[in-house]
Amino acid sequence: MTPVILITGATRGIGFAAAKQLASRGATVFIGSRDAQRAVEAAAKLGVSNLAIDITDPASIDAAVKQIDQQHGRLDVLVNNSAILLDHYQGLMELDPGMLTETLNTNVVGTLRVTQVFAPLLSRSSAARIINVSSGAGQLEGEPQAWAPAYCISKTALNMLTQQLTAALPDVMVNSMCPGWCRTEMGGSDAPRTPDEGADTLVWLAVEAPHDLRGRFIKDRAVIGW
Ligand SMILES: NC(=O)c1ccc[n+]([C@@H]2O[C@H](COP(=O)([O-])OP(=O)(O)OC[C@H]3O[C@@H](n4cnc5c(N)ncnc54)[C@H](OP(=O)(O)O)[C@@H]3O)[C@@H](O)[C@H]2O)c1
Repeated sequence: MTPVILITGATRGIGFAAAKQLASRGATVFIGSRDAQRAVEAAAKLGVSNLAIDITDPASIDAAVKQIDQQHGRLDVLVNNSAILLDHYQGLMELDPGMLTETLNTNVVGTLRVTQVFAPLLSRSSAARIINVSSGAGQLEGEPQAWAPAYCISKTALNMLTQQLTAALPDVMVNSMCPGWCRTEMGGSDAPRTPDEGADTLVWLAVEAPHDLRGRFIKDRAVIGW
């Protein structure tokens, strides 16, 4: 059966590249965006479906679930790709706590909310998958990083959300993945990877990786440390 896949925040960058790759493999893909018109335009470029979804707005998430339910009655793969990076060059000691709150509200609370509301649709899939697009910036291994503290903290929290979801949803394959540093609006023009390269592991997790690969942090199709 053709998998039904939702990628949040997919009108550009890694999400858009993943949508393109998945559509070329025959998947039924929904491109999500806060901006309905942007979603329509991006989806039209690929010949896929569009969905207005702001992951910080419960009413918008409810409407998005209704749309996919009415059209397909199930969801096979939820890709939680949406994120914000507000504090690129800010030091921790100068960080406005409000910026941390806003970042956590999108990158972590929004991701949880979307997953909670889509869980019933995922439970109607015979092999449901959730992919949380995280970042090496959230890794606890290695040397401490003095870069984008709110964003890094949010990705560490997202990784714990992945572990919590793995325990809470025993029939669902849930993983975090890191796309590597990619040339997108968020990653900037100096990044070494293309969005297509960044999307490779995401696409692999969505349609190829074994379903018993669960509760892991994955980069370049291999498990990495938390
Ligand atoms: N680029 C990198 O080097 C890199 C490295 C590691 C991890 N990542 C991760 O990869 C993912 C994609 O990043 P990217 O580089 O492709 O960034 P990007 O081009 O900035 O895309 C981020 C997307 O998030 C969406 N978004 C933001 N707030 C949202 C909200 N409240 N509701 C719904 N969507 C929202 C935006 O969609 P709309 O504005 O259309 O709503 C946008 O399309 C992110 O999770 C990022 O943290 C990126």
